Amino acid sequence: MKRRVVKQGDPPSSARGVQSSDGAQKKEAAPSRWRLKIGLLALFIVTISLPFSVKMLPQLIQHLVYTHRIRLPFFVDLSRPADFSLNHTINMYLTSEKGISLGVWHTVPANQWKEAQGKDLAWYQSTLSDGNPVFIYFHGNGGTRAFPPHRVGVLKLLSALGYHVVMPDYRGFGDSTGEPTEDGLTTDALYIYNWVKARSGNSLVVIWAHSLGTGVTTNAAVKLIKQGVDFDGVILEGAFNTAQQQIPMNPFHWYYWKIPGARYFYTPPWATNNYIFPTVENLKKMRCPILILHSKDDNLVPIKIAQGLYEVAVSAQNAERVKMVTFDGSLGYQHNGLYIDPHMPDILKKFVASL
Ligand SMILES: *[C@@H]1O[C@H](CO)[C@@H](O)[C@H](O)[C@H]1NC(C)=O
Repeated sequence: MKRRVVKQGDPPSSARGVQSSDGAQKKEAAPSRWRLKIGLLALFIVTISLPFSVKMLPQLIQHLVYTHRIRLPFFVDLSRPADFSLNHTINMYLTSEKGISLGVWHTVPANQWKEAQGKDLAWYQSTLSDGNPVFIYFHGNGGTRAFPPHRVGVLKLLSALGYHVVMPDYRGFGDSTGEPTEDGLTTDALYIYNWVKARSGNSLVVIWAHSLGTGVTTNAAVKLIKQGVDFDGVILEGAFNTAQQQIPMNPFHWYYWKIPGARYFYTPPWATNNYIFPTVENLKKMRCPILILHSKDDNLVPIKIAQGLYEVAVSAQNAERVKMVTFDGSLGYQHNGLYIDPHMPDILKKFVASL
């Protein structure tokens, strides 16, 4: 597989170069001043040229948006979930469309961990219809399904509560093949849902979507509605609204807002139709129970955005079917840490019981 690596640390590492020349200043003042100047010039060129090159290179945009080639954590074997102390998890590869292979984990409820030892795919698949709710987790941008602590953390939490968890990496993420696009991610999500539904019997199938996954999930929900199908329930954690989130708030643009001046040169990607994620429009059409989870100190998506989404969803349905739980900023959960809240098990059990 061809790998083009977009280095997460590119602009900051130029900055580090400047610092190290600073450090050398004590010894040889004159040359180091030169190095400092060259460093600053390089930083300036990177700062100025990156947004321009982004305008010219849609592919680069794609990499920055999905940051999918940054395979955090590094040096792990995603095919061995036991390495993440998931001893009741199987790794598999599912083909969501021709040529697209998705790496997927399936974790059974934690109380089945002993039984799960040494079991094969067929056994795992047969458990999906054991009556325990099945959660499908659609993760955010960047990294892989093993991204600790929060993805593995959510997985362990759900499993401890007695739920199955199916957690895919979208195309282009982790060890999945292909390149990510909005349509492609939506297709992957629908495929995973249908794959689970074909095996889950009468069990509830609940979607937990985080960040980028919330856009993917509401897209998938609307496609399903066209086929006359609703999700049983959807959790939207750290949901964003592309239409409202200008730089510097859009979660995909941290790359840019960390670079001074970038925003003045940068065309918002939603103006180029490369990706949209029309969550507001989607929520107006959705009819399944929805639980919105958001921390008041979310550093990527301000709480106001989530409140706006909640209001849209409530007026499309009602306050009985659409709930929002917020977490105080003093808890420090930001964008990813909500799963550690001591009330989370009760919040989840209540939601599942309401479905
Ligand atoms: C296997 O995982 C379960 C559930 O997380 C845990 O309770 C158990 O202690 C683990 N067993 C071993 C041997 O690590």
